[in-house]
Amino acid sequence: MRQIVTTRNGGVEVLKVQEAPDPQPRKGEVVVQVKAAGLNFAEILARQGLYPDGPKKPCVMGYEVAGVVEAVGEGADQDLLGKPVVAMTRFGGQAEKVAVPADQIFEKPESLSFEQAAALPVNYLTAYALLVVMGSLKADESVLIHNAGGGVGLAALDIGKKIGATTYGTASPGKHEFLRERGLDHPIDYRNQDWLPVLQQLTNDRGVELVIDPIGGSHWKKSYAALRHTGRLGMFGVSAASANGLKGKFKLIKAVLQMPKFSPLGLLKKSRGVFGLNLGHLWHEPKKVTAWMQVILDGVNEGWVRPFVDKAFSFEQVGDAHKYLEERKNLGKVVLVP
Ligand SMILES: NC(=O)c1ccc[n+]([C@@H]2O[C@H](COP(=O)([O-])OP(=O)(O)OC[C@H]3O[C@@H](n4cnc5c(N)ncnc54)[C@H](OP(=O)(O)O)[C@@H]3O)[C@@H](O)[C@H]2O)c1
Repeated sequence: MRQIVTTRNGGVEVLKVQEAPDPQPRKGEVVVQVKAAGLNFAEILARQGLYPDGPKKPCVMGYEVAGVVEAVGEGADQDLLGKPVVAMTRFGGQAEKVAVPADQIFEKPESLSFEQAAALPVNYLTAYALLVVMGSLKADESVLIHNAGGGVGLAALDIGKKIGATTYGTASPGKHEFLRERGLDHPIDYRNQDWLPVLQQLTNDRGVELVIDPIGGSHWKKSYAALRHTGRLGMFGVSAASANGLKGKFKLIKAVLQMPKFSPLGLLKKSRGVFGLNLGHLWHEPKKVTAWMQVILDGVNEGWVRPFVDKAFSFEQVGDAHKYLEERKNLGKVVLVP
C-alpha cells in the first residue's frame, strides 16, 4: 500500500509517498481501506517539529479516515466486513490502509460522501468538547470562535447555531461572506485590525460568555479580556508558533513565554473560568468520546452537522495540501485521497 511519510522535520519537501506492507488486523482491530483521510493543523505543526504529541519521525500521520472495512481481526464483529465507516486513528491514517481498534470506528452516515465523513471526527469532537462539554454554552449566551472559517471553526459554528447562541467569529476577510451564509452572526476581520475593540463595540462593552482560542501565546490574554462576567475561555492550540525551521522554534518559545498566568483570585473576582482541551490526550476515555461522536452522527441525520470539505488533494499533492492550510486559504476541511 501507499502511505504519506513525514521523513523528518522541515518544509513540505519532507513529505513523501512511499510503499509499505499492508497492515494486518490484530485482536480487536479492523483494517480500513481508506477513501479519504483528514488533514489537520496539528500535522502542519508536527511536520515543522513543533507538535510534541506527534509520532517519532519518519512517521505516517493522520487522526481520522473514512473508508471501507476490508479485514476484521479476532474478537471484532465479523459483520463489519465491507461496511463503510468513519474512524479515529491514532496516527497512520494518511495511508491506503490502516488498522484501527474496532471501538474507534463508526458507521458512515449514508448522506455523506467519504470525503465529508473524514471531516467529522477531529473537527466536530474538538468543537463539541469545547462548546458543549467544557464550555457549557447556552442559548442565551454568546461565543467568539477564532479562525471561524477553519475546520474546527466551522464545526463550532454548526454547534453554536444548534445551541442557539449568538455567534461571533474572527477570520480572514475573504471568508466572511461564506461564514455569513453558514449562519455566523458577526464575522470580524482580525487580519487588518485589532479584533478586541470591534468585539467590544458589537457587544456594548459586555464581551462574550465563551471564547475558543487555538492561537495561543499572548493571544490567550486578549481572549480572556473579551469575556463577560461568568465567561469561559477554552484554550486548545498554539497555531501562533507555525513556521519552518528555527523560526518556528523561536515562535514557540515566544508563545510559551507570553502565555498568561491566571490567578485564582483574579478568576474569583471576575467570575470567569479558563480551561484547556487536547483531544489527542483522550484516548483513554473511549466511552466519553464515543458518546460525543454519537451526538455528532445523530446531528448529521438531523441536518445541523454539516461537514464542509473545501478541497480534496491526492496523496501526491500532500505538500500543496499542507501549504493550503499554512497560507490560510482553506475554508473548512482539507482531505487527502489515495
Ligand atoms: N487541542 C485539540 O484537541 C485540537 C484539536 C483540533 C485542532 N486543534 C487546533 O485548532 C486549530 C485549528 O485546527 P484546524 O485543523 O481546524 O485548522 P484550520 O483552522 O482549518 O487551520 C487553518 C486556518 O487557521 C487560521 N490561522 C490562524 N493562525 C494561523 C497561522 N499562524 N498559520 C496558518 N493559519 C492560521 C487561518 O484562517 P484565518 O486566518 O482565515 O482565520 C487558516 O486558514 C489549530 O491550532 C489546531 O492545532 C486543537
